[in-house]
Amino acid sequence: MNTKILIPIFLSFLLLSCASGTQKSSDLNQTTEPQLSEEEIFELDKEPITSTKLPSLHILPRMSDEDGNSDDTAATYTLRANEDVNVTIESAQGSWITPMWRYNNSPLPLVIRANRGDTMHLIFQNRLSSDSTIHSHGFKIPADMDGGPDYPVAPDANKTYTFTMNQPAAPLWFHPHPDMQTGKQVYMGLAGVFILEDNITKTLEKNNQLPSGNKDTVLLVQDRRFGEEINGVKELLYMNEEDDILGMRGNTILVNGSVTPKQEVSNTKHRYRLYNVSNARNYDFALSDESNFTIVGSDGGLLKKPVEVNHILLGAAERVEIIIDFSKYLIGEKLLLISKPITGRMSTTTGSFDLPIMRFDINKEEKEEIHLYSELPDDAEISKRLDPLQANNRGNERDFILSMGMMFNQKGELQTTFSINGKVFKPNRVDEFLGSNVTEIWKIRNDSHMAHPFHAHATQYQVLDRNGIPASGADLGWKDTFLIQPGETVRIIGKFEDVNKGDYMYHCHILEHEDAGMMGYFRVGPTGHIDSLLF
Ligand code: C2O
Ligand code: CU
Ligand code: CU
Repeated sequence: MNTKILIPIFLSFLLLSCASGTQKSSDLNQTTEPQLSEEEIFELDKEPITSTKLPSLHILPRMSDEDGNSDDTAATYTLRANEDVNVTIESAQGSWITPMWRYNNSPLPLVIRANRGDTMHLIFQNRLSSDSTIHSHGFKIPADMDGGPDYPVAPDANKTYTFTMNQPAAPLWFHPHPDMQTGKQVYMGLAGVFILEDNITKTLEKNNQLPSGNKDTVLLVQDRRFGEEINGVKELLYMNEEDDILGMRGNTILVNGSVTPKQEVSNTKHRYRLYNVSNARNYDFALSDESNFTIVGSDGGLLKKPVEVNHILLGAAERVEIIIDFSKYLIGEKLLLISKPITGRMSTTTGSFDLPIMRFDINKEEKEEIHLYSELPDDAEISKRLDPLQANNRGNERDFILSMGMMFNQKGELQTTFSINGKVFKPNRVDEFLGSNVTEIWKIRNDSHMAHPFHAHATQYQVLDRNGIPASGADLGWKDTFLIQPGETVRIIGKFEDVNKGDYMYHCHILEHEDAGMMGYFRVGPTGHIDSLLF
């Protein structure tokens, strides 16, 4: 147990319990902010903007439909999870081998593309030495196909997940979700991208209102910590069980598997699907010259109206689709995607400097073809706002209170507890019961001193307000993960439809918090799976 971390945190709890409002606690947090640990000191390429050695960005490989017909509305994909797949990691300092856990022995995370209406058959073959699952993050599917910890797939066993995609186009993803092992398995390299398309995105692309093809790039951002190089091999280092209440944060940022890669681009608009699939770290993404860029989509799909910003804060598991317009740069110019320092109340992540994420090298003159859409039709499903007056629980909103506390464990050591509504996750307990076909307002309050990305399965949700202030900007999009700041209360609304049946999870998407029990089950409809399980 690391007392250096625990003592100041414990003091901050005492202080915070005396402070009343958000304003006060933010001041206190600045003085009790954890010092940068050794691991936090990034070994950065000193001059990423001028370096001639940056590796080229990898484009993540797309899987192909195994049913022999890629034009029909059924698709089959096999995902075989293996340990000890040797992956080459490229960086400006040279490359090395790291043994990782991967699907299908792929050196890079895999991409599945599907269309709205497709019926998916995901055949999971667990060849790990521990239980695993495939959880489809952000999908509107029945609970028994959702890959939660109540449906573990044992080592050497297989499971086929079958479901039909009936939700708007969105940047979705999938990852393991076994009890208490999610953080480790995702960290070791098990995660994949699932891009859903629909008639709206296809029409916008065809009409040149949204960049596509080689101007539509997935960027998976993940931080990792590597051991010493021995004979060209660096092992991935995972945290010691309880040594960091902030969750697993590495000192090396990988984008599509490489350290600070570069991408050569023409001087036109490009679309990036930016995924924060780090275990714990938040990023405040920006361009190194502070230029604006345009957000066109969030976790659950396109925004009705694109929003221009000069930075976007993404908690673990959040995604945005952005458009960067490179037309104002000269051929030969270079631009960095950075993460800005996150200070004050949001201090749980990056240190005190701009963290380089990747570089864009503007190297080709090209005529602009894209005239970005300005507004989606009102009657499109993605444009609709759920009406709080239609909520079945209006006037009696469902509370989710995120807390961290201190407790003595069996060995008599002080230990941090992570809970929701005062409860630590129990695999045989359903915490919240919802009816069938209901619309609900959930009120999530962060009672702790650090930000938590709250995630709920089953459907996509909308933010109503944050601390009473109506949602605006990218918060107007559909989302499945919400970064909740210390002291903040966020009200979200979700509609559970026919497809939603059974026991789903809600949890903090800092995976180490989830594994430590900051998670619960909610049941949609009269019955679920948990009753019938023998624990
Ligand atoms: Cu991305 Cu319950 O998970
Ligand atoms: Cu999920
Ligand atoms: Cu958390």
